[in-house]
Amino acid sequence: MLNNSIRVRATASVANVSCGFDCIGYAIAKPGDIVTIEKQDQPGIEISMSGIKYESIPVDPENNTAGKAILSLLDTVESKQGFKVHIEKGIPPGSGIGSSSASAAAAVVGVNELLNKPLENSELLVHGMAGEAVASGGFHADNIAPALFGGIILIRSYEPLDILNLPVPKKLFSTAVLPDFIVNTLDARRMLPKRVPLKSAVEQAGNLAGFTLGLHESDFDLLGRSMVDLFAEPFRAELIPGYPSVRQSAMDAGAIGCGISGSGPALFALSDSLKIAEHIGITMVGAFKKAGLKSTAYSTPIHKKPPEILD
Ligand code: HSE
Repeated sequence: MLNNSIRVRATASVANVSCGFDCIGYAIAKPGDIVTIEKQDQPGIEISMSGIKYESIPVDPENNTAGKAILSLLDTVESKQGFKVHIEKGIPPGSGIGSSSASAAAAVVGVNELLNKPLENSELLVHGMAGEAVASGGFHADNIAPALFGGIILIRSYEPLDILNLPVPKKLFSTAVLPDFIVNTLDARRMLPKRVPLKSAVEQAGNLAGFTLGLHESDFDLLGRSMVDLFAEPFRAELIPGYPSVRQSAMDAGAIGCGISGSGPALFALSDSLKIAEHIGITMVGAFKKAGLKSTAYSTPIHKKPPEILD
């Protein structure tokens, strides 16, 4: 017998990873959002929310990333099924670690299950992206793809969509540090120039290639050398008080590389042990404090699993 309700947890993610603007992202084990979905007799999506800073998120399904992702999925499978959706935010919205994507990923996985899996997991991505677009004003998959599939993901192409799993070196760990303020992804995308100089494009392409080779060969020096962002960081760094000193504190604490996570204000760092990842977290929180900001650190392995069905 099919269930009428389901609870799904999807995790946070780090997008861009410095050299992969809009095309590289990885999932982290925590924090995460939990979405509970229940079939209802009448059509339509009814959304309620709880958890961290949920008050700023719209509950109108057309303007909610989970709601919009579900509507897109239902449209494709031509279903009129209605759902009650409760989103428990464990990831603060506007923090830069894929908060909106986690809700959308958990929502499409849950609805697909409740409809008896009309779509393959890989087919859920476009619907998650439709949800993500509500928050960011553009189609990008570097948060939603890792949230849906886990691991480190390369979006080689958007048209047509070509999503590739990159190898995750055994000893690669992530630190994400979230200063306590919101950056709206839409605004952070609008501040980027429409064109980049050829010289920057060449350098970014070289670094992206170096980064993927570094993952393949577990060459952490190469990873570190490649973690340079010429597209977004030069413009977005000014949104984050103390950015240069917090970044430097991570490097001094042993990071392989450090940069802005997604559109910020979170920063991320990669390292080669959980102990160092935790030490980097403590150091960065201290550096943010010196810049006058409260922050929270999450040090975790790269999360390799898709959203988890809790019950
Ligand atoms: N790649 C996107 C951006 C990620 O940097 O705008 C948003 O989290």
